[in-house]
Order: sequence, then structure tokens, then C-alpha cells
Amino acid sequence: MGYAEFLDISIGTNAAGLGSKRKFNEPNNIPFVKRNAQTILNTAYNGLQSHKDYVPENATMFWDDRVKSLEKQALEPIKALEEMRGLDFTEEEILNVVVERLRNIPEYQILFKNAFDESNAVNIENLGKAIAAFERTLVTPNSRFDKFIQGDREAISIGERDGFELFKKVGCINCHNGPMFSDFKMHVLGVPENSKLSKIDFGVADVGAKDSFAFRTPTLRNLRFTAPYMHNGNFVSLRRVLEFYEDISNNVVRNPNVDPTQFDPLVRELRLSIKEIAPIISFLNTLNDTEFDKSIPENVPSGLPVGGLIN
Ligand code: HEC
Repeated sequence: MGYAEFLDISIGTNAAGLGSKRKFNEPNNIPFVKRNAQTILNTAYNGLQSHKDYVPENATMFWDDRVKSLEKQALEPIKALEEMRGLDFTEEEILNVVVERLRNIPEYQILFKNAFDESNAVNIENLGKAIAAFERTLVTPNSRFDKFIQGDREAISIGERDGFELFKKVGCINCHNGPMFSDFKMHVLGVPENSKLSKIDFGVADVGAKDSFAFRTPTLRNLRFTAPYMHNGNFVSLRRVLEFYEDISNNVVRNPNVDPTQFDPLVRELRLSIKEIAPIISFLNTLNDTEFDKSIPENVPSGLPVGGLIN
């Protein structure tokens, strides 16, 4: 599934099934993960922008930039109640519990020792480093658009090139720019709330303050794998996303909690008409690249089923 999933908002612990078939077990007192799971593909490049220094330690992660670096990010899902932790352990103890489990598996002892060359190599920090090192192998730098930009004029069609010109002209590129088609900044768009969630999501300052609703510009690479779209997966297709932008450019407010004065100025500058939607979507599809590592190991050191106990 392109290291993403096709659910709007994810179902972590106390559930069974893979991908869109995943359902909570009964009885259940675990909430949905409140935001859409972004793909891990190219997260190695999070924060990467044209003509700027790239510092992996400062690369911001998540829809609200709340964690810096892949190494730190990798530990967060383990700690999150609704993702991997569940109710059996506290947030403070869970990482030690996990590291203890790894230490009791002889093959991991050896693998960590070989990778980190230190005594007591199986520890929390190295766990984050190991996962991040794997994630950095999952990159897709060879989309048809990349070939085009490197000089292969035939790599995309004339219609797709027109779509790229429109993408620039209507103002998408003001936020979706650079090698990742993201400025990695926060913007208020006023995406409607997901009705599965009981609470309003205030975005980056989600502390109940009415003054936020800002979310981080996502990459536009590999959209084929990242549906449904937006921070809460509320739009099932690219067509729905573009119709939303068309509404914004006509001052139609879709989320009644967001005051139009909060809208990002760059959003208000958008000028998009219905007939521009199809060519822009055909351009977006040139950013897909399916050539990433899809290998599945035959077994893993824990002896658990590969992919975990999902059923
Ligand atoms: C003001 C900055 C800004 C502009 C201009 C802008 N976007 Fe976005 N885009 C964002 C942000 C921020 C999000 C995430 C919003 C959210 O989830 O609440 C987003 C989300 C998206 C997504 C969903 C990606 C995913 O994986 O969920 C697509 C597709 C997209 N934009 C395409 C476009 C197109 C096409 C245009 C031009 C018509 C455009 N954007 C204009 C900032 C912008």
C-alpha cells in the first residue's frame, strides 16, 4: 500500500485486519488515531527545500510538525495509546518494556551489536536510529516528472505539461514547492472535520485554542498511495480535493468552525476553475513512482508472523 494505508483515520491497537479491512474488536475503548497516516516513502526528505540547508536532526514530522527528526518520530507511535501502546502500559514505561523484549531476543542482540558497536546496544535511542535508517531507504526519486525535469521532454505528455503550467499559474506552487512539493509550513485551509471524531481538531495549536486549524503542507509525491486525502482523510479522491480548492477560491467555507479571516493569504489568492481540475490532476499523477523496496522478509528475529499479529 505504498507504506501508507487507504483508511481516512487509522485503527491501531485492539483491532484486526489489514488496511481498509481493519476493524476494532468488540468490546472496544480505544479511539481512532485522530489524523490520516502519511506514507513513509520519502520521509527521508521531510523538510528538504530548494537552495536551503537540509539538517536531518531538525527535519519536522507529522501534520503539525510536533517532532523533529525521523529518529525521534519513530518512537512516537510506540508511545501513542491509540496507535501501538494500548491500555496495558503507561506512556512512561512502554519504551523500556519494548527494549526489554528486544533484549531477550538473541538475534537482535547480535544485530544491534554489529550495527552500533557498543555495549548495551539494544536501547531506546538505537531503536529509533535503526527504524529511521530503514525509512531512509524508502525513497522514490524517479517519477516521470523527475525524468522530465532532468531533461527528458518525452517523459510526460503535453496534457500533463499543461497541467504543470496550470499548477503554477493558479497558485498551488506557492505552498507545494521544492523537491518535495511542500514548503513544510503550516497553513489554514479549513478542511471539514471528520465525523468519526468526537472532538474538533484545532491543528498545530490543538490545545482548544480557536485561533489555529493550521496543518503542514503535505508532499504531493505518490498521491496514488496516499488517498484518502488531507490531515483527516476526509476527501476520497483528488477530484474532491480540487473541488475543495475551487470552493475556497470562491470564498465558500466548508468548515463552519473556521472563520474565513483565518484562511491563509496564499489560499485566498488561489484562482481555480472547474475546467482546470482535470489537467492539474493529470500532472499530479506524473509524481507517482512505484519503484520502491517491496521486499518482504521470510521471517523476523522475534519469531512473530511477518507484519505482526494483525488477525
Ligand atoms: C496556502 C498553501 C496551499 C496552497 C496554495 C495549496 N495547498 Fe494543497 N495543501 C496545503 C495544506 C496545508 C494541505 C493539508 C491541509 C489539511 O490537511 O488540513 C494541503 C493538501 C493538499 C493535498 C492532499 C495531499 C494528501 O496527501 O493528503 C493535495 C492533493 C493538494 N493539497 C493539492 C493542491 C493543489 C492542486 C493546489 C492548487 C489548486 C493546492 N494544493 C494549493 C497547502 C496548500
